[in-house]
Amino acid sequence: MTDGQEPVEPSGVWATAVGVAKVRALESERPNALFLDPLAQAFATAGGLLPSSPRTRDDEAARRRRLGLAFSIVVRTKFLDDLLQQASAAGIRQVVLLGAGMDSRAFRMDWPEGTRLFEIDTAAPLDFKASVLSRERAVARCERITVAVDLRANWPDALAAAGHDPAEPTVWIAEGLLIYLPEDAVELLLTRIGARSAAGSRMGLTLGSRGVIERFGADAEPGSAASMWVSEMPDDPVAWLAGHGWTATCHTVRERGAAYGRPFSAPPQHEEQPGGLVSAIRR
Ligand SMILES: C[S@@+](CC[C@H](N)C(=O)[O-])C[C@H]1O[C@@H](n2cnc3c(N)ncnc32)[C@H](O)[C@@H]1O
Repeated sequence: MTDGQEPVEPSGVWATAVGVAKVRALESERPNALFLDPLAQAFATAGGLLPSSPRTRDDEAARRRRLGLAFSIVVRTKFLDDLLQQASAAGIRQVVLLGAGMDSRAFRMDWPEGTRLFEIDTAAPLDFKASVLSRERAVARCERITVAVDLRANWPDALAAAGHDPAEPTVWIAEGLLIYLPEDAVELLLTRIGARSAAGSRMGLTLGSRGVIERFGADAEPGSAASMWVSEMPDDPVAWLAGHGWTATCHTVRERGAAYGRPFSAPPQHEEQPGGLVSAIRR
């Protein structure tokens, strides 16, 4: 990909991060874009997702699912951008992006002086990202620290070694991540986050809504994002997070989209329970 280096091909779960970048690139071109992500197209192109990439299978139901997924990615990006801005305004200077993928917030958002932003993901996507960033000559607008570790392994030690201070509040983001982790791994992740969250810390989560795995996964193409989804939101996300020491507020994607002036045009095919988008504060 970069001079003299072997290209890193997106594969497995991290290929989904490149798909997310493609959605953000398309959104950035809209006249009424909810955010601008100038690096997203470079990630998508480097990962082989060209604007006109053909679809192998796109019947009406598949098209509807694809549009619904793209809509949810756009809305959740705006939701978490706002949450991060509010956390910065409240004085939080540590940011941890869990399963950061091609998230380019370190480069595209304004950060107060002294902000340290940690990006955790496995080595392959972080290497791929580094090569694209270097080619684009991208310059972070805060102190950006990458931590290459599997979130099912001992990531807290890796994060501590990278300089995260658990005595200071942190804003944690798990965007498009938890759906790929089995329930026991999600529980452990939340327990570990809690142990490193000073009072006043914040958290933004996206959760798979109830039934989404059955609806999307039943005839998902092998290797597609939906084929790798394994967990959905608990019955009561607010109570679940209270048990982990957080006061949470839950939203649906559809409701947030409408609040951002971007109502989803397709009528609901099923009832969407609040909880897909979660904002939480550490008690
Ligand atoms: C759908 S992408 C979302 C990326 C990013 N949060 C965003 O919204 O742009 C999911 C990301 O989670 C990462 N991921 C999934 N399982 C992981 C694990 N066990 N450890 C570390 N990262 C993981 C993948 O590598 C991928 O980058």
